[in-house]
Amino acid sequence: MPLVSMTEMLIKARKGRYAVGAFNILDYNSIKAVVETADELQSPVIVQTSEKTVLFWGFKPIITWINELSSRTAVPVAIHLDHCKDLSIIKNCIDAGWSSVMIDASSKPLEENIALSQEVVKMAKPFGISVEAELGEIGGVEDDISIDEENAHLAGVKQAKIFLEKVKVDCFAPAIGTAHGIYKGEPKIAFDRLKEISQLSDTPLALHGGTGLSEDIFKKCISLGCSKINISTQLKYAFIDGFLNYYQSKPTEYNPLTVLKAQYISLKQAVAENILLFGSNMKAK
Ligand code: 13P
Repeated sequence: MPLVSMTEMLIKARKGRYAVGAFNILDYNSIKAVVETADELQSPVIVQTSEKTVLFWGFKPIITWINELSSRTAVPVAIHLDHCKDLSIIKNCIDAGWSSVMIDASSKPLEENIALSQEVVKMAKPFGISVEAELGEIGGVEDDISIDEENAHLAGVKQAKIFLEKVKVDCFAPAIGTAHGIYKGEPKIAFDRLKEISQLSDTPLALHGGTGLSEDIFKKCISLGCSKINISTQLKYAFIDGFLNYYQSKPTEYNPLTVLKAQYISLKQAVAENILLFGSNMKAK
């Protein structure tokens, strides 16, 4: 089916108390693994692109691949631009056919974050494109964006209230103690903060930094309103390990297509594991 925005799938997920996985892709093979796994498990899915990946391949190739793969399935597929600070890249994604975008102005003071996020809502909404925005600063490293522990900070409840009243986003990403990349110690999630922010509105919430969180943490965050869960690092590992494991077992076989197949299988396993954990399987209708 044609690509859809995140709006409807996330409203349904919040009401149904499950979450839709947003998987950061790397190339055609990884988009194929994400979409075909969602198809097999009858799950809605968000194919997520980092700014770095978009600039690496270009807008047109990515949108061509995703349109072609989405047209082969009846499950809802959204293509979402992850953390983007650059309005011209957001505009190019909108023009190219992205169905969802994220403006990350979380490093700016509240009023500036609100103004930039409002501007993106104005750019996207006339085309039915969903918008995600962030408040507070999520720590760790996500491609070219790096926030060290000292600068990472939780979203404030008062600020979240003001933000949500002023910016009509389809998905809100408050920093609640998760981090991008591999967790160094036990992640400390501010569940109370998440609960208070969740009670402010029905807006679906995004949980960033999904790699390495336990099943209990996922379940608790979903029960408190997280309807979109981002997984990036785990897919990077599946991508590289898919290649390495194959190479180690057959070091003298130079057959690129079987290597791509091994990566595809490794990525599919990671995606399936998360879809089942988030409970979005059989929720495509
Ligand atoms: P991880 O890399 O920790 O899975 O986080 C992904 C993410 O939140 C992308 O925005």
